[in-house]
Amino acid sequence: MKFSGSHILSISQFDRGDIERVFEVADRMEPYAHRQRVTKVLDGAILGNMFFEPSTRTRVSFGCAFNLLGGEVRETTGFETSAIAKGESLYDTARVLSGYSDVIVMRHPVSGSVAEFAAASRVPVMNGGDGANEHPSQALLDLYTIRKELQHQGRSDLDGLRIAMIGDLKYGRTVHSLCKLLCLYRNVTVVLISPTELQMPGAIVEQLRSAGHTVVESDVMEGSISKVDIAYSTRIQEERFADRAEADLYRGRYRLNQAIYTRNCEPNTVIMHPLPRDSRSEANELDNDLNDNPNLAIFRQADNGVLVRMALFALILDVVDQVDKNARDVNWYTERRF
Ligand code: CP
Repeated sequence: MKFSGSHILSISQFDRGDIERVFEVADRMEPYAHRQRVTKVLDGAILGNMFFEPSTRTRVSFGCAFNLLGGEVRETTGFETSAIAKGESLYDTARVLSGYSDVIVMRHPVSGSVAEFAAASRVPVMNGGDGANEHPSQALLDLYTIRKELQHQGRSDLDGLRIAMIGDLKYGRTVHSLCKLLCLYRNVTVVLISPTELQMPGAIVEQLRSAGHTVVESDVMEGSISKVDIAYSTRIQEERFADRAEADLYRGRYRLNQAIYTRNCEPNTVIMHPLPRDSRSEANELDNDLNDNPNLAIFRQADNGVLVRMALFALILDVVDQVDKNARDVNWYTERRF
């Protein structure tokens, strides 16, 4: 794909070479994300960060990534502080805000809304999550994390990957995008573990099978996670259900803890979750007793979000080759934390 000036709306836009390009640029962002070097390559540029649904990681890491490249961030959070609450259309909002920004990231509760917004925007738009549809930057950082974790184990290839996805696979947009991304690779085994009512949409299962992958569907976690490289847990997406009572029917159905991990998983199985994990006692899909397990990659995964989002900005705004030219060492104390 041509990155320069493009919207990033769906994983379907990428081919395998594009993914390698994103990962290669993400690797080059490490000195900046890890606070060893400072660059001002986007000095003067403005990111419009528009989040109409709650977010911690995606909103802050997109903003942080833009700041780390030297740009400034303007935020809109929630409908109540936006003129959309007065009836303004997505078309008008896009026309106006694209005059104030060089690039826009948007999260919205309705599937397809970010694409609708992008069609009216005069600057590139990135999908920060649209309803239950897609979360492309999350899938990219997930696969980047998988690649790094496997490299750490001495494996260089994503082909042949074995992954279990656990939880709300119907409404979880991160697993939808991740499955589409895995279709670009070869000989992947995908174990889909969910309540029957919350199964992965049939069209995505069909896409995985058409890519030649082995797909196993189950409603039981124990036993199904015994031969996987990655156990990817997800939260019940309560905000997509009619009410809390309906979400309560499924909450707490799958709880991965250290005892279950030890009993079922291979010693190197990497534990992932897009976060937030629901740590309330009635849910607790990823127990705190895993926090000291070296294979728990959830916080490394969140850190990697900054690298991947810096790479996307650098590619879309066409400054990859200028990043290092505008750089210097940091001159403040930085704790070693990466
Ligand atoms: N993974 C993710 O999308 O997290 P946030 O909802 O906190 O952005």
